[in-house]
Amino acid sequence: NFKGALFDLDGVLVDTAKYHYLAWKRFAEQLGFEFTEADNERLKGVSRTRSLEIVLEVGGITLTEEEKLRLAEEKNERYLQYIRRMDEAELLPGAKEYLHKLRARGIKIALGSASKNAAFILDRVGIARLFDAIVDGTKVSRAKPDPEVFVVGCKELGLEPADCVVFEDAEAGVQAALAAGMRVVGIGRADILRAANLVVRGLDELVG
Ligand code: G6P
Ligand code: MG
Repeated sequence: NFKGALFDLDGVLVDTAKYHYLAWKRFAEQLGFEFTEADNERLKGVSRTRSLEIVLEVGGITLTEEEKLRLAEEKNERYLQYIRRMDEAELLPGAKEYLHKLRARGIKIALGSASKNAAFILDRVGIARLFDAIVDGTKVSRAKPDPEVFVVGCKELGLEPADCVVFEDAEAGVQAALAAGMRVVGIGRADILRAANLVVRGLDELVG
């Protein structure tokens, strides 16, 4: 009973969180502190600039705006080295199958991601053509939990929020979807994604 589906990218369709983590970890090492996987949880769904602020906060480091820009750029260069090597094998289980299933049912599909690398990643893993609209960090400025990314996605599909479902792995993303007036399926742990209308471990649970 929905006409449109909006997907977050990192953690829902592909597991790029591990590459973001490796890049930030290396970044922290260079500045002389440790950045753990638990710290990394705080970066999920969060924009690049905000991620940098969180990482610096963990290290207790204050920098000028200029230095921040340069370091964010450096981190992204390192992240790109990982994602350039991605291929279809890095799609999460059920992702491609579920997108095909929705398309076969006539459901419109949009991407709603904070990443500025989203279009490149969709291309690398070979699913770009399955999307009717792609809304990413190059198109919106307000980060989740602000609903902007999903509101724009829904408009690009020509649908009403009430007719759309969002698929999200981050708490900030679940909040963004609810604030946009959409239903939301949480991907991951029910204890973290408590606000979602439904929680599954992965998209593979929805295929078949
Ligand atoms: C997603 C990820 C975040 C990441 C953000 C920006 O939301 O979950 O961890 O910081 O995208 O990604 P970018 O590729 O633009 O640095
Ligand atoms: Mg995510």
